[in-house]
Amino acid sequence: KALQPTSIIIFGATGDLAKRKLFPAFYNLFIEGRMPEQFNIVALGRADKNNEDFKNYVKENLVLFSRNQKSIDAEWEKFQSHITYFRHQIDEDNSYQELDVKLKSLDDEYGLRANRLFYLSIAPNFVSVISGHLKNAALAPNPAQDRIIIEKPFGHDKSSAIELNSLLSRTFEEEQIYRIDHYLGKETVQNILAFRFGNSIFEPIWNCHYVESVQITVAEEVGVESRGGFYEGTGALKDMIQNHLLQILCMVAMEQPASLDAGEIRDRKVDVLKSIRRIPLDRVSHYAVRGQYGKGTLNGKELKAYREEGGVAPDSNTETFAAIKFYLDNERWDGVPFYVRTGKRMKEKHSYITIQFKPLPQSTFIAGKHALSQNKLIINIQPLMDIRLQFMTKKPGLTVELKPVEMVFDYFSCKEDTPEAYETLLLDALEGDLTLFMRSDQVEEAWDVVKTIQEYWESNPDPSFPNYAAGSSGPEQCELLLQREEHSWE
Ligand code: BG6
Repeated sequence: KALQPTSIIIFGATGDLAKRKLFPAFYNLFIEGRMPEQFNIVALGRADKNNEDFKNYVKENLVLFSRNQKSIDAEWEKFQSHITYFRHQIDEDNSYQELDVKLKSLDDEYGLRANRLFYLSIAPNFVSVISGHLKNAALAPNPAQDRIIIEKPFGHDKSSAIELNSLLSRTFEEEQIYRIDHYLGKETVQNILAFRFGNSIFEPIWNCHYVESVQITVAEEVGVESRGGFYEGTGALKDMIQNHLLQILCMVAMEQPASLDAGEIRDRKVDVLKSIRRIPLDRVSHYAVRGQYGKGTLNGKELKAYREEGGVAPDSNTETFAAIKFYLDNERWDGVPFYVRTGKRMKEKHSYITIQFKPLPQSTFIAGKHALSQNKLIINIQPLMDIRLQFMTKKPGLTVELKPVEMVFDYFSCKEDTPEAYETLLLDALEGDLTLFMRSDQVEEAWDVVKTIQEYWESNPDPSFPNYAAGSSGPEQCELLLQREEHSWE
């Protein structure tokens, strides 16, 4: 369907996210004919930049970060005419009045009151200031047309998230608020729903009768890069588990929604979050393991310890690795452990989900003799993008021997056409589809899930830090978390 004319207002347009993700995503949507016919990106920044310089900067970064490089020269001229740099001071009233004039002049150009999409690509402490100013200057008065996109982190604990939600609700209705979790825009994550509910063969075995355990791993090779200052006050639990990993867990564990309606899907996810058993404060070390990387090597390169990174305290207690065992108190998942783990400076970048099926209750084949291994379904999220089902077959030959083999669906062949997460999410926001965005209760509930772990870790520094070498597979204690259940990490 044709999209309404839209003014896209980016707060923090000179920042890192805008150059790496937002402009490339808008550009790719543009060349694929997915942007509204009439649109303008009003790029807000503090610096007194000239429009042409800013556009050159955007173009240079498209060359570095755009998925589609083929036609930058050919398409750039058309795309750049939709960008305007606008000097702006986040905390000054008159900056918002000037923005009002600018947006009205764009409406005059379009010939109607356009939709407005405000993108807050700024540090979280500015969200309340901006939202207050948008209200005072009546810049987003129309619930049917005006939307706001907010980046994570959404609060830093449950009570700050509640406060932020209530503050935003003074300016916006819930339907206008698009809280982004970019993992939900990833093709492989979205596919979980299609895989589970578009096939008849998996859903009947997708429960505690057949599944022994679920593992969700998001391993990163990168360290904290230039974000030490931010990361030091955050850590893996708040940066990754509270949002990305719990959202993936919801996709794996949710009940079938009655329709693709955003409210319906978000309700089913909240059900999952509510059913996650809360870990008592005095049991945190039994269910959760934390780590911090020390010095190490990766591909022959020497790597610094976390405590040596810029903006990090020399005796930092911030975790760069976290692994947690969750149980869901509901009928479908009774007794099935969900292991989640994530870490920076791991030996390789790899995000994947493993569904480990139970062994056969009885088998003609003898486990020791016939190398019988349990069935497994592996969903590779990135950089590998595939789904693998592992099952047993007879080794061709004169004797009866078994071996595990895989049936694979690989996205790789269509990778060129795979949109980036931000393209999917920005298009949804332009279209007014909230399905892949977080509702206020989802965010609050997810904070509630990690609350005791957060409290325990913050008030009990880990004397073993640093407890894993950069470029390794994480702290040893992480193995113990699974060994207790006679499981092991995939
Ligand atoms: C972000 C975190 O939300 O996700 C980063 O703040 C992390 O610390 C990033 O590196 C990972 O995203 P992706 O898409 O590269 O897996």
